[in-house]
Amino acid sequence: MLMKNFVKVSFCAAFVCAGISLVCADDSNLSAADQARIAKADQGPSTIDVSAYPQKIQDIYSDLFTQKCTQCHRLSRPINSDYALPSEWEAYVKKMMHKSGSNINFGQARKITDFLIYDSSIRKKALVDEKLSKEAPDARAADEAKIKQVQAKYGQ
Ligand code: HEC
Repeated sequence: MLMKNFVKVSFCAAFVCAGISLVCADDSNLSAADQARIAKADQGPSTIDVSAYPQKIQDIYSDLFTQKCTQCHRLSRPINSDYALPSEWEAYVKKMMHKSGSNINFGQARKITDFLIYDSSIRKKALVDEKLSKEAPDARAADEAKIKQVQAKYGQ
């Protein structure tokens, strides 16, 4: 009897988990505006020319970013997104890491975040500057310090 219940409970749990991961793995629960913005990013380029970036940044691009961030959507989604500030990438990579089945650990998330901060500071510099100028002084100082820290860490 006990065993039967246990089987029932774990069967249900498996169902609920499968249900949650289905919802999480597609975009149908998003608002129309979010879906439109994301669809636009999806259609853009899906590679970054990293040949002029520091070697360790290039390694994160090929070993982690292009592997981990293509499991559920194309790489064009992060490449062409409006996220550009360190605070935006920190929050967003955490969100992606916590999606079920993301297969991304903390150390990998840290490196991918560094990559995105570095890449945005070069490739999306105009957007970064515009966003920094609109931030409150404390938040701006924190984001500027983070960009400098990442650039120093990877030797540029
Ligand atoms: C487990 C599946 C999964 C993985 C792995 C994943 N994503 Fe996503 N991503 C999604 C889904 C689903 C959405 C749609 C928005 C949502 O549900 O949060 C999304 C949306 C996005 C967006 C668009 C956000 C917006 O609102 O404009 C960006 C940027 C993004 N992901 C970046 C990344 C990065 C960077 C990685 C690698 C660290 C990654 N994703 C890995 C599932 C995933």
